[in-house]
Amino acid sequence: MNINVAVRVRPFIRFELQSADNQCCIDIEGNSTIITDPKSLESEQFLFNNSFWSHDGFVEREDGLCLRTSSKFAGSEDINEEYSTKLLNNLLEGYNSCIFSYGQTASGKTFSMYGIGNTQGIIPYTCEKLLSRLNNLSENEILISMYEIYTEEIYDLLVPKTSWPKHGLKIRTNSDHEFFVENLSKHPVRSPEDFQELIRRGSTNKRSFQALMNQIAGYSHVFLILELKQRVNQEDKVLEMSSFITFADLAAKQRVFACATLEKYVISLNSSIAALQTVVKNLANPASRGGVIRYRESALTRILANALGGNCKTYMICTLSPSSKYYEDTKKDLKFASVVKKIRNQPVPNQYKEI
Ligand SMILES: Nc1ncnc2c1ncn2[C@@H]1O[C@H](COP(=O)(O)OP(=O)(O)OP(=O)(O)O)[C@@H](O)[C@H]1O
Ligand SMILES: [Mg+2]
Repeated sequence: MNINVAVRVRPFIRFELQSADNQCCIDIEGNSTIITDPKSLESEQFLFNNSFWSHDGFVEREDGLCLRTSSKFAGSEDINEEYSTKLLNNLLEGYNSCIFSYGQTASGKTFSMYGIGNTQGIIPYTCEKLLSRLNNLSENEILISMYEIYTEEIYDLLVPKTSWPKHGLKIRTNSDHEFFVENLSKHPVRSPEDFQELIRRGSTNKRSFQALMNQIAGYSHVFLILELKQRVNQEDKVLEMSSFITFADLAAKQRVFACATLEKYVISLNSSIAALQTVVKNLANPASRGGVIRYRESALTRILANALGGNCKTYMICTLSPSSKYYEDTKKDLKFASVVKKIRNQPVPNQYKEI
């Protein structure tokens, strides 16, 4: 099963609308995404599993919610429904899934994953839908963990910062040679309010900074893990199966000159993205490195090892700015997304075990 890849084009943001040379350089027709060079006017076409057009074709209500005025428009509720159905079916069938957002800064990664203001993103929507699908919580348990990778170190976002070990938590390998974060806290969830409180707490603890475009930019890769423990009684035994959804909101490559005081962090962040790009390139073309995939190059690639070429069902949303100002970066992201699409995973469901 190949990694499922989608792109999403957001509306212009204020910074872009204020620029004189801002035009829309991207279009979507069905599942094709077409990007046009603003200088040469040459176009290139890319095909993905889904192409979501959130650029126009809507009116924004006073409360910030978008109402569709064109059938081309894909709003957050369409995207949330599409992914939550897939992710929850996997979870209930015992498959692990991973969904990650990728794209340049301010392209809409956090907006798509978490949502902003009244617009819900995939994570809160999926978490709440899980609760409504589980009619008997007493036989199931939902647990949430949330952490960030910041300068190659892992910080648990759901415990007080005062209890963070100096260099963060360690990544270890289990008996199946899978990477995991040691001593990560897990928090039970029984109601939508529990989810909201945990997501709020984790989001408050994560690192961000005031970026150039007057936006709050993510500075760390943020992971939220949703674990479902399903229990069944068999004769006089209780059997249990755990399955997971990993939601990853990645930070974007930054230009060092844009924030000189934070240079060390920017270098670390950029090298983690470079490691991800190398792993993806080698997985898509295994002959190029004799089949050796260097997951150990960064914390990000170790954490994503199972999602990239491993045994889970993986989805990527590549978020795109529509602006001709970022044509070169957007085209690079489209090329990266087409390489990700070539990666094959071998999903294996988890099994019920006696507890
Ligand atoms: N589909 C969308 N519809 C409306 N507004 C959007 C959409 N996507 C993004 N935006 C707006 O664009 C801005 C940037 O989005 P967001 O913070 O999600 O970017 P990001 O990719 O997470 O950036 P960074 O890498 O810097 O963290 C926000 O103001 C957000 O509200
Ligand atoms: Mg972000």
